[in-house]
Amino acid sequence: MLEPRERLIVALDVGSVTEAHALVERLDAAVHFYKIGYQLGFAGGLAFAQKLAAAGKQVFIDMKLHDIGNTVARGIESIARLGATFATVHAYPQTMHAAVEARAGSKLRILAVTVLTSYGDADLAAAGYDFTVGELVAERAAQASDIGVDGLVCSAEEAARLRPLIRPAMVLVTPGIRPPGADPGDQKRVMTPSAAIRAGADYLVVGRPIVAAADPKGVAETIVGEIAAAQANRG
Ligand code: C5P
Repeated sequence: MLEPRERLIVALDVGSVTEAHALVERLDAAVHFYKIGYQLGFAGGLAFAQKLAAAGKQVFIDMKLHDIGNTVARGIESIARLGATFATVHAYPQTMHAAVEARAGSKLRILAVTVLTSYGDADLAAAGYDFTVGELVAERAAQASDIGVDGLVCSAEEAARLRPLIRPAMVLVTPGIRPPGADPGDQKRVMTPSAAIRAGADYLVVGRPIVAAADPKGVAETIVGEIAAAQANRG
């Protein structure tokens, strides 16, 4: 069973290592797990990720890889050498197979992104798919499970629906989390931390509600408290 604090992943969506470093210092022991995506990753953030991992934090490299199998495998090996705990790939079978094989022997775990949450049915049709979003998410989740992927990134709303389709050991990592009353920003479907935990999420990704807060550490501690209460109720 994970400690409540281990379930919070803060998205370091800032433009420079200087800003990321200052935020990590402020959050201090309140936050244990950080996600680094395009914005910081392409601005020196991968070396910073390696430092965070060496300092005992957990790191999630969210670059959503998708390329030929050999290129994905070599990329995953490099991410594993950074000391990362999670890395994302798009849920295409070749890509998932390559990533799962390449992470063997390391502590890195592979998360698949089924369908980007900005996609609706019309976007899929425009991209040439003859599936609804719901159908494609379910199909890709089942494929990810069969291939041995370690977890999925999904909305908290999808968590309960996906759980029966995947291996019990797979983790569900959910963005779109907002503390009660917080600004949803551009997220279309948001859930509070406690609702997400009750819906079956294992890890919660939180960006702007913490990164843009006047008191980031206070917000992080409040969210961890909510997770703890929800986890106690979940049993
Ligand atoms: O600021 P906010 O809490 O909305 O940040 C959510 C984070 O999760 C961002 O880094 C965003 O890129 C990421 N994410 C998401 N939805 C997905 C996958 C990743 O919001 N489906």
